[in-house]
Amino acid sequence: MTATIYLDNLSTTPIAAEALDAMRPWLECEYGNASSATHALGWAAAEAVELARDEVARLIGARTSPEVIFTSGATESNNTVLKGIADSHAGSPTHVVTTAIEHPSVLSPADALAARGVEITQVSPDGEGMIDADAVIAAVRPETCLVSIMLANNEVGTLQPIGAIGDALRKRGVLFHVDGAQAVGKVAVDVEAMGIDVLSLSAHKLYGPKGVGALYVRADALPDGLPPLLHGGGQEFGQRAGTLAVAQIVGFGMAAELARGRWREDALHACTLTSALWGHLRAELGERVRLNGSSEHRLPGCLNFSIEGVDGGAVIAATPTLALSTGSACSSHRVGSHVLSAMGLGEDRQQSAIRIGVGRYNTERELALAGSALVVAVQRLARTGARWASA
Ligand SMILES: Cc1ncc(COP(=O)(O)O)c(C=O)c1O
Repeated sequence: MTATIYLDNLSTTPIAAEALDAMRPWLECEYGNASSATHALGWAAAEAVELARDEVARLIGARTSPEVIFTSGATESNNTVLKGIADSHAGSPTHVVTTAIEHPSVLSPADALAARGVEITQVSPDGEGMIDADAVIAAVRPETCLVSIMLANNEVGTLQPIGAIGDALRKRGVLFHVDGAQAVGKVAVDVEAMGIDVLSLSAHKLYGPKGVGALYVRADALPDGLPPLLHGGGQEFGQRAGTLAVAQIVGFGMAAELARGRWREDALHACTLTSALWGHLRAELGERVRLNGSSEHRLPGCLNFSIEGVDGGAVIAATPTLALSTGSACSSHRVGSHVLSAMGLGEDRQQSAIRIGVGRYNTERELALAGSALVVAVQRLARTGARWASA
């Protein structure tokens, strides 16, 4: 059987060998509960968690590590922020500004808040998936208690002007949450320099394990933290109850340490490989392949394109040796793409979209093979399929 070429790194990344090695002892013999303060196994676990917390804090430029709390992933972090902020403003008129291209883990809690009477403004992107900083600021009202915007879009990879938005919001004293799930560890993220008050992170997007993430909460923006989503034993400074997943957290810490040391090298590698693939597709298929998203402000390794007249799902079915997607894994049950639709792209362009996520462990040879397989599949579909518009 031919090995799969994994090109779905925006959905999840393979775990780094270093992270897996770091996790092993905490799954095998170091089984203490980090909250057990009465014996050495507990102390060792608590110390390992704090070392990981330091690494995650360093990766994002947090001033102090207790500003980072561990969660089960960015979905939980995003829910904690939206629901927590709404709860802490319950009883007064509340308004939240977000965008039409957020991940479902922001859009769905925002819908739930709207059902509770919170007013939500969704700023629309331009045709490249870019959110205009001025439009965000213009949407802010006196009762706005939160602005929530993703750093990198998970379908088209467009990087938003977070620094400009953060700067303007800080002057207005409005809390700024950023969903950094796709971007942290791939591009420069500095919560201080970018004016970010609250940041959601996910380990499995940066070569760490699944089932763990974090929430950064700036101490001077929210001195008491956010109201917890989960109540219980008071773990994570009272902000997120539940026995800590020590092995996952240790793996996350190691992945964060690795990313801090090599994200530039990773970014260059991913950009080089995606550019070569894009060049090949354009040379072979011409104007029929069209890039979705920004060519300039794009997450390294993300390539989303549509092939005129060819169904994206049919291309994926015709290239079984490639692990690709038609969009986001988290919204693959939906019809069409809310992101491409918000960008103003028609149904045909949405139907024919393919998302490729190139990562740290992909090779030049894999991308060359993927390029050839895609071209062969598209040309065959073009010959046989009715959906090739100009055939
Ligand atoms: C932008 C964005 N936010 C949030 C999430 C959810 O992250 P997790 O899988 O850690 O819950 C994802 C995952 O795809 C994402 O891409």
